Amino acid sequence: MDESFVPATTEWYYPSDAVVHNALVPDYEATYAEAMADIETFWAQRAKTLHWFEPWQQVLDRSNPPFYQWFVGGKTNIAYNALDRHIKTWRKNKVALIWEGENGDKRTFSYWRLWQEVNKFANVLKSLGVKKGDRVTIYMGRVPELPIAMLACAKIGAIHSVVYGGFSEHALADRIEDAQSRVLVTCDGAWLRGNIVELKQIADEAVHRSPVVEHVVVVRRTGHEVNMQHGRDFWYHDLMNLPIASPVCETEVMDAEDPLFILYTSGTTGKPKGILHTHGGYQVYISTTLEWAFDLKDEDRWWCAADPGWITGHSYIVYGPHILGATSFMYEGAPNYPYPNRWWKMVEEYGISHLYTAPTAIRGLMRFGDAWPNRHNLSSLRMLGTVGEPINPEAWRWYYNVIGKGKLPIIDTFWQTESSGFLICPLPSVGLKPGSATRPFPGIEADVVDEAGNSCPPGTEGYLVIKNPWPGMLRTIYGDPQRMVNQYFSQFSHQGWYMAGDAARKDEDGYFYIIGRLDEVIKVSGYRLGTAEVESGLVSHPAVAEAAVIGVPDEVRGNVIYAYCILRSGFQPSEELVDKLKEHVRHEVGPIAVPSRIEIVTSLPKTKSGKIMRRVLKARAMGQPEGDTSTLEE
Ligand code: PRX
Repeated sequence: MDESFVPATTEWYYPSDAVVHNALVPDYEATYAEAMADIETFWAQRAKTLHWFEPWQQVLDRSNPPFYQWFVGGKTNIAYNALDRHIKTWRKNKVALIWEGENGDKRTFSYWRLWQEVNKFANVLKSLGVKKGDRVTIYMGRVPELPIAMLACAKIGAIHSVVYGGFSEHALADRIEDAQSRVLVTCDGAWLRGNIVELKQIADEAVHRSPVVEHVVVVRRTGHEVNMQHGRDFWYHDLMNLPIASPVCETEVMDAEDPLFILYTSGTTGKPKGILHTHGGYQVYISTTLEWAFDLKDEDRWWCAADPGWITGHSYIVYGPHILGATSFMYEGAPNYPYPNRWWKMVEEYGISHLYTAPTAIRGLMRFGDAWPNRHNLSSLRMLGTVGEPINPEAWRWYYNVIGKGKLPIIDTFWQTESSGFLICPLPSVGLKPGSATRPFPGIEADVVDEAGNSCPPGTEGYLVIKNPWPGMLRTIYGDPQRMVNQYFSQFSHQGWYMAGDAARKDEDGYFYIIGRLDEVIKVSGYRLGTAEVESGLVSHPAVAEAAVIGVPDEVRGNVIYAYCILRSGFQPSEELVDKLKEHVRHEVGPIAVPSRIEIVTSLPKTKSGKIMRRVLKARAMGQPEGDTSTLEE
């Protein structure tokens, strides 16, 4: 378990009367009670704020748990709610998306323009043979064509699988293979810290490994030379200029439970899991959570600084803000490029009202001192948010005092790829405590329980569980429904609860403190990685016979990766070899998975049944007692 920063705090921060008074949902307690009294009526009311081609016959089908179905029989399409419906209103002229490239390039899309681009690309996809239910893999940098490609898939009923641009060819190939995508959308490259990330080159190698891909569409971003394979690869801009790319495209009528996307995430064992979300419940859940927690209104400028390649970007850069008809800002590059004031400069320049980011970014920027943000007028900010890992109170206070000038609510949102949207987070009227994600969202019954399922008393650590279904919950693991049952619903199968995989505790006021993962998932800079992925990256090097990987707490990145490798005979430990192994992981899995330390060892602590005792490795790495080692066999 990652024992992070969990203080016993009695420090309270209360929202101002103005914040509460003006909030869309001014009374958390009353709203929570009302929702829990009848969650089906509650979610049905929320769903009615969206467009349905045909109404549902049943709000929630509980007949086959944990395979719950929401808005059964309802016909809808999330792209209709995110775009089509807005262009029939004054929002046609509203700014939907503002984008800034790391190199200073700027682009702005009204809802009308975004709708047209999406329609055009939807027609392009159709011309490449993509049909309803087909999977399309998207592997891009943070450019507007990424949300355009996602929305275009949704529009024609194709299932997108976005792979984060920080993953390398092996990870990409695995995900293409699992989804059996015949079309891949990528870029020639992406700008990061002034350098080009060679996305097309990585994509080529992935397609080589996973030849199921028939067509590759390439967005030109950097303009540097890339290999284009005749007949297989097409430039995005060429296709978008063909007559086939008409700006009008019929939106596919989807069943509420038809798949919208697959998003691969790391789990306890083996290969990444393809978490599947659907059109109906997902749109209701993410739009409600965003609107209520962040009090998002038409006059706001919302900036979620995550990457669309992760769930945060899916729900809160692309779909959530556009369903709400909001203005969403997206930035391509590194937060401190070329200087540590880059973010604050953009907040000022664009009049950003909401900034939503990860604790690791806050800690990273905090390191540069207060002078950088203080050079800028940040008075447009109205709310701040955080996600992805526990936020340590020191970073929380810096965010609150230096960025928020002691006035803005900090919305610490706990949730997961599997949940699609916030599970535990404050609404504007909730008093805040640094380091706590506060209280469950209306409609969510969360608790901290022991192994037997008894609620833990305040201050006692236990398993975080969600006791009821919610519209945005995962529907399955793509191609492996039993794995979903085993992973999330087997521990408390008797009660039918969802186990999040996190340790947590509540305090006397019912406030939740998330401690960290209970499984073999490591959160590095807020990114979710499985020990198995990094280990298989290491053992794919000819010098490595066996590898074990652990997460070790780090002041800025939350956790960093330490790896222990046993060499094959004939290989000698050396610094050079360690560097080569790091490079190998970078190449195989991706830059985010590179261990910050690799130790060559001759044995690993294992149980008699051969399972690596990561707990012992971690204790050793941190210079702590090894605990019970009675089952240890090196
Ligand atoms: O461990 C929790 C941590 O991130 C995990 C989910 O990771 P992922 O599926 O990649 O989604 C990240 C974006 C939602 C959780 O199991 N986590 C997420 N948010 C928080 C958090 N830990 C503490 N506080 C949070 N606010």
